[in-house]
Amino acid sequence: RGEITLGEFAERLGVNSGELIKKLFLKGQMLTINSPVSYELAEELALDYDVLVEKEEEIELEFGEKFDLEINDKASDLVERPPVITIMGHVDHGKTSLLDAIRTTTVAEGEAGGITQKIGAYQIVKNGKKITFVDTPGHEAFTDMRARGAQVTDIAILVVAADDGVMPQTIEALAHAKAANVPILVAINKMDKPEANPMRVKQELMEHGLVSVEWGGDTEFVEVSAKQRINLDTLLDTILITAEILELKANPNKRAKGIVLESRLDPKVGPIADVLIQEGTLKIGDVIVAGETHGKVRALLNDKAERVERADLSQPVEIIGFNEVPSAGDVIYVIQNEQHAKRIVEEVAKERKIAEVSRRTISLESLSQELE
Ligand code: GTP
Ligand code: MG
Repeated sequence: RGEITLGEFAERLGVNSGELIKKLFLKGQMLTINSPVSYELAEELALDYDVLVEKEEEIELEFGEKFDLEINDKASDLVERPPVITIMGHVDHGKTSLLDAIRTTTVAEGEAGGITQKIGAYQIVKNGKKITFVDTPGHEAFTDMRARGAQVTDIAILVVAADDGVMPQTIEALAHAKAANVPILVAINKMDKPEANPMRVKQELMEHGLVSVEWGGDTEFVEVSAKQRINLDTLLDTILITAEILELKANPNKRAKGIVLESRLDPKVGPIADVLIQEGTLKIGDVIVAGETHGKVRALLNDKAERVERADLSQPVEIIGFNEVPSAGDVIYVIQNEQHAKRIVEEVAKERKIAEVSRRTISLESLSQELE
């Protein structure tokens, strides 16, 4: 970023710097090898060589970097953490039922219209190892939640109903997982149905780049039935093996960092945020910020709605204590003290307002142009 020298510019252009200096001299500009080259000048010079110059994008700092909240870990600080597994797929293909079968719960039965409308996060223990699951909605209206689910995960499980095959949100979910660059496992569900056709699912997914291991590819396909509880152990074992290869680690002994999966305003207790802890350990009394809101952890509830004293690595937890409702997707950080937290949220609010005003100005400008 910033300006580069004539020498550096000549090198990038692949020409002798002397040649450029001479060219400029003839145009009446006295520059040396160390003179800075403005963007406009670079553009002009490059044209002679049929090269287009583009401005490098200003690198936008992440929230945490900007406020110096990211603390680098030493290798010796890192410990194994539970994998985060996001369940994705087309509506009604049995994502929630599969999680219910694994957890022996009945979440799906209680859902309005039998449709998942928010992200759910749960933890189980298998062979003494914790696994965190994130359930996403399959209805086409909830693209944002699928994207968010893919962004927080270590491994994506693509659920495809054996009777229905690959459908639009199967492909959309796959695209989110690919964009997040995470390993993908396929669970072919509803294998108990007489019309189940797992072969067709494998063929259809092959057209989207997922080739099953038995066909020489590297994608694990597990044929399951949530309803009949078929092959759930195989699915869990496959998850654990895949996770082991990833060697997932984080530092539990520092101020916590997490991501807001969902948030809401409870009329009795106030703002509630469902958060996935990604680093450190969150405790009661911690001062927290997320986007433009801050607060102090008053209570923590685990995925069984039990009060807990702290939330560990990869644990989903409900936080009560924010002053206002944070936005889903915001990163939450524990801050040293309340003054610092207030200063940070003021800064963020100011920045977001500026961004908002310039967005509006641009759209007003384009509008007035259209009207002309
Ligand atoms: P959304 O979250 O709304 O996208 O749906 P979902 O993928 O979570 O599907 P859900 O678990 O709500 O199940 C949809 C329907 O499929 C329900 O009627 C389930 O009982 C049924 N179902 C789920 N798994 C199986 C299965 O293995 N076999 C059979 N026969 N039916 C199943
Ligand atoms: Mg569901």
